[in-house]
Amino acid sequence: MDGLGLDYVLIDCPPSLNILTVNALVAAHAVLVPLQSEFFALEGLSQLMLTIREVRQSANPSLRIEGVALTMVDRRTTLSQAVEQDARENLGDLVFRTVIPRNVRLSEAPSHALSVLDYDPSSAGATAYRALAEELMSRETA
Ligand SMILES: Nc1ncnc2c1ncn2[C@@H]1O[C@H](COP(=O)(O)OP(=O)(O)OP(=O)(O)O)[C@@H](O)[C@H]1O
Ligand SMILES: [Mg+2]
Repeated sequence: MDGLGLDYVLIDCPPSLNILTVNALVAAHAVLVPLQSEFFALEGLSQLMLTIREVRQSANPSLRIEGVALTMVDRRTTLSQAVEQDARENLGDLVFRTVIPRNVRLSEAPSHALSVLDYDPSSAGATAYRALAEELMSRETA
């Protein structure tokens, strides 16, 4: 990234659309949206899309949407299936093929102050996050 020796800088934002989030949208090249599959978060997503449009029209015209990543996915539940189907129907290719499953290792890792990639690299959660990173990188080179 621009002479800093970094490939990616991730700015982790709160879920609410406040001044901090908008500042991040102004500073960023792209937005990666985690979408929790446990409740209908699509309404919040349409508000985010409107905000992204406003930021494009003002401070950051080249801001792009990198993609929407479904998280906490449990395909055994009808709710999770419904959220995934709804997201794919409405957002199409914006939704990453890779989904992040509900995985207890992901919830344990922070209490050990570790990334899940260090805490349990072979867990389903770590495997899914690596696959998501690969998919993101392959989209950028495609
Ligand atoms: N895929 C998952 N499976 C199981 N637990 C998860 C998963 N993703 C997140 N969690 C757990 O859910 C909680 C919230 O996750 P996380 O901090 O990623 O959400 P957040 O929306 O960024 O929250 P915050 O607003 O606090 O930043 C944490 O306890 C985390 O360990
Ligand atoms: Mg967070």
